[in-house]
Amino acid sequence: MLIAERGLADVMLLDLPEREGVAKGKALDIMHATAVLGVDAHVEGTSRYQDLAGVDVLVVTAGLPRRPGQSRDDLVRINLKIIEQVAQQVRSVCPEAFCIIVTNPLDAMVYAFWKATGFRPQMVVGMAGVLDSGRFRGQVAWRLGISVQDVSAMVLGGHGPTMVPLTDTCMVGGTPVTRLLPTDQIEAIVEGTRMAGDQIVRLLGNGSAFFSPAASILQMVDSFLSDRKRVLPASAYLDGQYGCEGIYMGVPVVIGAGGVERVIEVQLDSQQKAAFQRSCQAVQELIRLVDKISTGPSD
Ligand SMILES: NC(=O)c1ccc[n+]([C@@H]2O[C@H](COP(=O)([O-])OP(=O)(O)OC[C@H]3O[C@@H](n4cnc5c(N)ncnc54)[C@H](O)[C@@H]3O)[C@@H](O)[C@H]2O)c1
Repeated sequence: MLIAERGLADVMLLDLPEREGVAKGKALDIMHATAVLGVDAHVEGTSRYQDLAGVDVLVVTAGLPRRPGQSRDDLVRINLKIIEQVAQQVRSVCPEAFCIIVTNPLDAMVYAFWKATGFRPQMVVGMAGVLDSGRFRGQVAWRLGISVQDVSAMVLGGHGPTMVPLTDTCMVGGTPVTRLLPTDQIEAIVEGTRMAGDQIVRLLGNGSAFFSPAASILQMVDSFLSDRKRVLPASAYLDGQYGCEGIYMGVPVVIGAGGVERVIEVQLDSQQKAAFQRSCQAVQELIRLVDKISTGPSD
């Protein structure tokens, strides 16, 4: 909806064959919305992977959200199967696409998709940091009663309870937030950021955040398609950066026409380094599980 209403690109919505009607119905509804708004974008629904041939961007949201009482491992097993099915299909139809993975547990699923497709790591990335940073920035702005436009902040690490919101580099119009808010309020913001997704799951009862992930995906799609080279936190392949090797983790990256064009290494203090390492270990544990149960790329 957001991509179409901005006229940023044409959109193809793909779902399972038994849900093709939903994909087609939503596509039609969005098309009608663009007509009302006076935007010329084409939106279509399908269940056939051939219809994705040659797309520039692939956003993968296929998979289940965590249900109450379900362990992270259970979710890995369920969603890994789905991610591998999707990877198997898109490998041949859109091998040049910039792939943004959204399915949880995020960092492990990005890794699984990258592994199963064999795509270049700079063309496979996960969406989480833009959302987590947005939640952080929003809370700072609301507490201070100022515009969120003037708050910059980064949340690094894995997408989950071990994420690492960087408090001392959060700036409000050039002033560190640590000079504007007392420590207890900053701690509450950090906790609020970590728990934001869970809070929405609890309130909705049956489903998870929808609008804010969509807005976050839009930022990444736009930076790629418009070659904006924005610095956005995203789950990216680490090849030695931050002391991590061969895994996907949330770090600031430059997204442009070349995909993830650069990983930016932020200077972390010893406390932040330790928190990042803890987050890295949590992601590594899930990745080990993926390696153990995945079927790997099939030729
Ligand atoms: N990274 C983030 O910040 C973030 C934010 C929100 C949701 N999520 C995750 O995104 C995923 C989707 O969440 P949702 O709320 O959109 O769920 P949803 O149940 O509304 O939608 C999932 C869709 O995936 C489809 N699907 C299932 N198996 C498929 C397959 N094999 N091939 C193609 N499509 C398939 C379903 O038919 C359904 O339409 C979940 O894993 C959720 O946890 C991540």
